[in-house]
Amino acid sequence: MANNTITNEIEKRRTFAIISHPDAGKTTLTEKFLLYGGAINTAGSVKGKANSKYAVSDWMEIEKERGISVTSSVLQFDYNGFCINILDTPGHQDFSEDTYRTLMAADSAVMVIDASKGVEAQTIKLFKVCVMRHIPIFTFINKMDRDARDSFELLDDIESVLGIRTCPVNWPIGSGKSFKGIYDRKAKTVRTFESVSTGGSKSAAETDFNIEDSELKELVTDDLYNQLVEEIGLLDGASDPLDLELVQKGELSPVFFGSALTTFGVETFLKYFLEMTTSPLPRLSNEGIIDPVENDFSAFVFKIQANMNKSHRDRIAFMRICSGKFNAEKEVFHVQSGRKLKLSQPQQIMAQDRQVIQEAYAGDVIGVFDPGIFSIGDTLTLPGNKFEYEGIPTFAPEHFCRVVQLNSMKRKQFVKGITQIAQEGAIQIFQEYSAGMSEIIVGVVGVLQFDVLKYRLENEYGCEIRLESLPYGYIRWVGDPSTDVTKLKRLNNVKTVKDMKGNPLLLFVNDWMIRMVLEDNEGLELLEFKKN
Ligand code: G4P
Repeated sequence: MANNTITNEIEKRRTFAIISHPDAGKTTLTEKFLLYGGAINTAGSVKGKANSKYAVSDWMEIEKERGISVTSSVLQFDYNGFCINILDTPGHQDFSEDTYRTLMAADSAVMVIDASKGVEAQTIKLFKVCVMRHIPIFTFINKMDRDARDSFELLDDIESVLGIRTCPVNWPIGSGKSFKGIYDRKAKTVRTFESVSTGGSKSAAETDFNIEDSELKELVTDDLYNQLVEEIGLLDGASDPLDLELVQKGELSPVFFGSALTTFGVETFLKYFLEMTTSPLPRLSNEGIIDPVENDFSAFVFKIQANMNKSHRDRIAFMRICSGKFNAEKEVFHVQSGRKLKLSQPQQIMAQDRQVIQEAYAGDVIGVFDPGIFSIGDTLTLPGNKFEYEGIPTFAPEHFCRVVQLNSMKRKQFVKGITQIAQEGAIQIFQEYSAGMSEIIVGVVGVLQFDVLKYRLENEYGCEIRLESLPYGYIRWVGDPSTDVTKLKRLNNVKTVKDMKGNPLLLFVNDWMIRMVLEDNEGLELLEFKKN
C-alpha cells in the first residue's frame, strides 16, 4: 500500500509517446511542450541542425558520430502540477523496432499530422501498434499556418485510413495566409492568429473572442466567418460526441488543430490533453492486474541499447516503471533470472541531459547499466514478488538481406555475434527451410540496422560480412505454428522461413500476394505481430 507521497507522485504522471511521419513537426511540438514546462529556454534546443548540435533527445552522441544512431529517448518535465514523460519515437533513418517497442511503454499517444499531407506511411505503422494496445490517441493537425487540406477531408482521411473515429475539440478558420485562428468547441470562443516575426523566429499573437463578438467578424472577413458558422453547425450535427470512455479505449481520437512552429494551439492542446489522459494505468501480469499505486515497485524492460560507450562495451536497459516507487538504494528482483540485484547507475533524461537518479515512480522510464542479464520484455519487482508482465511482441521487419560471411574460419564468432545482436532486438534472423545456419536472412524494421549489424560484427566480433538485398518487403507469422508451410498453395515467389524459435513465416514481395495466399488457403492466419 503506497503512502501519500508515492500516490501523489504517481497520480501526477502522464507518460505518452509522440508519433508522426518524418517532418510533420514532432520535434517542433515536443520543443514547444518543453518550453511551456520551462524545461528549456530557447527554441531550437531539441534538435540542432545537421551536425551542429545534437538533439536533447539523442541518447548517443557516440553513435551519431559513427553515423549510426539507433536511439529513442525520454524527456521529463513538470507542467501545471503534472509530471510529464514524453517518449520519442525516432523516425527517418533511426526508425527501428525500438520505435515500436517504445509504444509499449506509453499510456497514450499523440499523433502529429501535417495538415497539407494527411495521414502518411510511418504514422500508419505506429498507429497500428497503438491500436493493438488500445491506448488513447490524440491527434494534433499541424502546420495550419501553411496551406492545408480541407479540414473535413483530413478527418475523413484519419477515419478511413486509420479506422478510428474522430472528434474535433477545436476547429480552424482558414489556413496558410488566410489562417485566422481556432474555434474552441467547448468554450465557444475563437482564439485569433496573427503571425509575428520576433528576431527571426516565428510566433503568433493571440486574442480570445466570443464567437458572437463583432470585432471578431471584422478580423476574420465575412466569408471565413460565415464558413466557420456553417462548419460548426455541421460538426455539431454530424460529428461524434466527445465520449471520454471511447477515448480511453483508443476508439475515438480527439483532434486539435494548430501550428507548432508558431506555438499556436499548443497550450490549448496541452490543457485538454492533460484533462483527458489518465495517470499510469494498471498493467496485466501473469498473476493478474498490477495497480500502479497499490502495488510495490515493478517495471519491465522495453529496450536495450548496446555499446553506449564502445570502450566499455556497455549495455543500457530501459525500463518502464509500472507500479510503486523505485529506490536506487534497494535491491530489486529480476524475475526471469531469479536474481536479486541493485540496479547500477539508474538514469533519467531531464530535458537537457542524463542524470543519475535516486528515485522514480510508476510512469517513469529509467535506464540502467545492464551486466548482460536483461532481455526485452523482462520484469523487475521487489524481492518476494514473482509476477511477470506480458512479453513485448515481435514486430514484422520490412527489409531483408541474405548475410554472407566472408571468412569461413570465423564461423563461431559469426554465429555468436549475430545471435547476440538478434537477442538485443536490433535485428531479427531467419533461416530458410532448406538451409542451416549457413544461410541466414536478416530482417530489420529500418534499413540503418543493416549498417549497425555490419559495423558491429566487424568491430566487436571481427567478422566481415556481405549483405545481399532481397526483394521482400512483408513478413507474416503463420498463426498456427504447427502448419506445414510446404503444403500451402500459391507459394510461387513467396519464401518460407523460420525464426530462431522454429516458428514458420512467409516472406512476400507485396501486399497483394499476401491477400492471394490468404484467399487460396482457407483457414490460414497470417500475423503482423508475434506475441512473446
Ligand atoms: P519531425 O520531428 O516530425 O521530423 O519534424 P520537425 O519538427 O523537425 O519539423 C519539420 C519541418 O517542419 C521543420 O522545418 C519545422 O520548422 C517545420 N514545421 C514544424 N511545425 C511547423 C508549423 O506548425 N508550421 C510550419 N510552417 N512549419 C512547421 P525545416 O525547414 O525542415 O527545419 P527548420 O529549419 O525550420 O528547423
